[in-house]
Amino acid sequence: MAEQIHINEVGLRDGLQIHAHFIPTDDKLALIDALIDAGVVSFEATSFVSPKAVPQMADAGELFVRLPQRERIAYHALVPNERGYDRAIDAGVQSIAVVLAASDTLNRKNINMTLDEAVSVCTKVLARARGEGIATRAYVSAACGCPYEGHVPSDVVIRLTDQMFAAGAEEVAIADSIGAGNPAQIGQIFSQLAKRYDTNLLSGHFHDTRAMGLAMTWASIAEGIRRFDSSIGGLGGCPFAPGASGNLATEDLVFMLNQSGFETGIDVDGLRKAVTLASRITSQHLGGRIAEYFDAQDKRAAAAVG
Ligand code: COA
Ligand code: ZN
Repeated sequence: MAEQIHINEVGLRDGLQIHAHFIPTDDKLALIDALIDAGVVSFEATSFVSPKAVPQMADAGELFVRLPQRERIAYHALVPNERGYDRAIDAGVQSIAVVLAASDTLNRKNINMTLDEAVSVCTKVLARARGEGIATRAYVSAACGCPYEGHVPSDVVIRLTDQMFAAGAEEVAIADSIGAGNPAQIGQIFSQLAKRYDTNLLSGHFHDTRAMGLAMTWASIAEGIRRFDSSIGGLGGCPFAPGASGNLATEDLVFMLNQSGFETGIDVDGLRKAVTLASRITSQHLGGRIAEYFDAQDKRAAAAVG
């Protein structure tokens, strides 16, 4: 049996949060439907953040209660603080993600907290979630570099990961939020973490800013990591991290993994339909390399017929 790789679609949150124009909840739900049709089973669907900080996520509560409930589909939501946690619980969220950046400055810019405050807030939220039977995940973001402070030592990433597991996170996502990393660097981080934790508790979250996303994924796989975030069509970027461009495109990731004999349960043709829809609702030309490749193939075939 082929080895399974778990993909968590973050386009609806990490992808859309940077869009200045509010995308109607109905359009977000249609995109989720298209992704489910393609075989996606795990979504970070939204974030319960301040609507002043991220207006695009102002419909988090409404979106969450309207999500299509189907067997095997899991929805997660990002919460930055206890207020976000309360809102998430009110909306019926069963799985939350907390976030802290591996640099003081990015924490201040992103969530208006020092690193120590962020650790303390994440710890409180994780404790409440564990006590209430809610699934938990923690992001250690800017793990390969900070847009303000530059280099992030891997020791800091390891220490924060330790703190998040000790606080009750069931999974820690190592996030290269601005695409500053490279395969050697992420391989080294995961090699250290894999000595301390079961690799099923770790995941990789990469941005393709400098075209390293797939190579970093492959380097992580070599260290035993089998869980990755990605974003349909490469949607995304972080409004608080200058230089953060799109996440690694889900269709590129799935294509590479399927080609390499891993089982993702996701179908690239279905993802292409989702890319078309995502482009339409964001009024933006989207698509990773593989979407472009197949579009060009289709054009050639149509020209040959015509
Ligand atoms: N959801 C909705 N409103 C929230 C909130 C939340 N999770 N947390 C705080 N607020 C509201 C407060 O009620 C308060 O409202 P008021 O002005 O009407 O009284 C206001 O926001 C300010 O609250 P405060 O606790 O002082 O927050 P802040 O201004 O220091 O901002 C965050 C802190 C974390 C809420 C904000 O920076 C944020 O939402 N950041 C998220 C950024 C993000 O999504 N980044 C990308 C993902 S990593
Ligand atoms: Zn990200």
